[in-house]
Amino acid sequence: MDKKTSNRYVNLFMNKHNNNPTYSVITHGCQMNEHDSEKIKTLLEEMGFVESEEKLNADFIIFNTCLVRENAEMKVYGQLGALKNLKKENPDMLIAVCGCMMQTGPARDIIREKYQHVDIVFGVNNINSLPYLIDRHLSTGKLVVDIERKDDIDEDIAIKRDNKHIGYVNIMTGCNNFCTYCIVPYARGREQSRSVESILSEVKRMVKEGYKDITLLGQNVNSYGKTLENPVTFTELLTEVNNVEGLERLRFLTSHPKDISDELIEAMGKLDKVCENIHLPFQAGSNNVLKRMNRNYTKESYLEKIEKLKQNVKGITFSTDIIVGFPGETEEDFQETLDVVRKVGYEQAFTFKYNRRPGTRADLFEDQIDEEVKQDRLQRLLDVVYPIFYEKNKAYLNTVQEVLIEGESKNNPEVMTGRTRTFKLVNVKCDKSYIGKLVNVRINDFNSFALTGEMI
Ligand code: SAH
Ligand code: SF4
Ligand code: F3S
Repeated sequence: MDKKTSNRYVNLFMNKHNNNPTYSVITHGCQMNEHDSEKIKTLLEEMGFVESEEKLNADFIIFNTCLVRENAEMKVYGQLGALKNLKKENPDMLIAVCGCMMQTGPARDIIREKYQHVDIVFGVNNINSLPYLIDRHLSTGKLVVDIERKDDIDEDIAIKRDNKHIGYVNIMTGCNNFCTYCIVPYARGREQSRSVESILSEVKRMVKEGYKDITLLGQNVNSYGKTLENPVTFTELLTEVNNVEGLERLRFLTSHPKDISDELIEAMGKLDKVCENIHLPFQAGSNNVLKRMNRNYTKESYLEKIEKLKQNVKGITFSTDIIVGFPGETEEDFQETLDVVRKVGYEQAFTFKYNRRPGTRADLFEDQIDEEVKQDRLQRLLDVVYPIFYEKNKAYLNTVQEVLIEGESKNNPEVMTGRTRTFKLVNVKCDKSYIGKLVNVRINDFNSFALTGEMI
């Protein structure tokens, strides 16, 4: 990045207003986008922008978008529309749109045609070009679009993370799986792994800065390293990161059931920092539906992996993603999904009604399910999962848990929140000085979504 050119906007602004311009990054979508937003914020602060107190009011507003389901897209258009007047009042204001939506032609066309107050559009692999794009917009006064692949996956920069004690580390980008319902591979491109050296150097730097809990991030981390010049397995990477001195907890996201190996399951049981929790999306319980989703595993093989995990990793907890109403899903198919939910006993589940995504294979399937049926199945699914969450949390009562205190609770500054190794959210009454510390907490209350306890 050429910082001299990149500072032109900031310099002009400061000369005119006598203060630094503010920024706000509005993030939709998954952890990938959350982490990308941390990179964007780091770049902007290096340039001299300061974070705005208000989400939807700043001199520079950046929307980091998601297109996995239609309502994620609709939200962005709504927010963008609401900024039209604000921009008229503040002529120095800049608006940028980036993220997965901007990887698709139709969404870019909508921005061009209907949201002409947008100044900059950039793709998921062009975050580092942002300073240059601001400069180009300043010179031309026109919409600047950059979506060509450029960023180096092995880049090693000090990212300013939202939390000082828990953080994500990207280990790969893209996805090769093409589940028939999913748009992500079209937006994020093919799998590409970052080198072990680059990942280790980032983890070591973070640990030095005080990070205790690190999550390795990718769409399908279990296939990490396959395309590297000297192929490495995910288990090998996990072992290397586990050996970083000073790190307390190690997690990874997301795992694909088809790629989770026995070797990895055994390693999870042995590596001391790897936490007793895994997010393992199963999407649907019916083998027929799984096949049409192109998931490449069966209900039986999924449950077998869960069983192996339970045997090898003492006290492991599970979370998952589930889709109801996939094209052709019958009532019997849906019952298979409920069966998996009951057998595994998830502590958390992200549940979705199937949503048609233009460009994906499942969008062309003719046996689409009526909205009412989808809604009814979603409700019946929730009626099964919520009582399980409740029972799972009840089992924590009167136990003592090691909790990493992460920060103040949103509702009450006298209460801190943290997580157990099993990723359970815990509210603890203690003061701010405990943020970033591991404390022992006796659990004395709970609801379906969180635990409450006292420090001992
Ligand atoms: N790479 C991750 C997550 C991808 S997106 C994985 O494979 O698990 C997160 C979740 O969104 C998916 O697991 C899936 O449950 C859901 N999802 C993706 N496309 C969807 C669609 N078209 N309709 C409804 N839910 C969808
Ligand atoms: Fe989408 Fe499937 Fe890739 Fe996950 S594994 S990102 S659900 S295509
Ligand atoms: Fe994530 Fe949404 Fe993109 S789920 S990868 S931000 S389409």
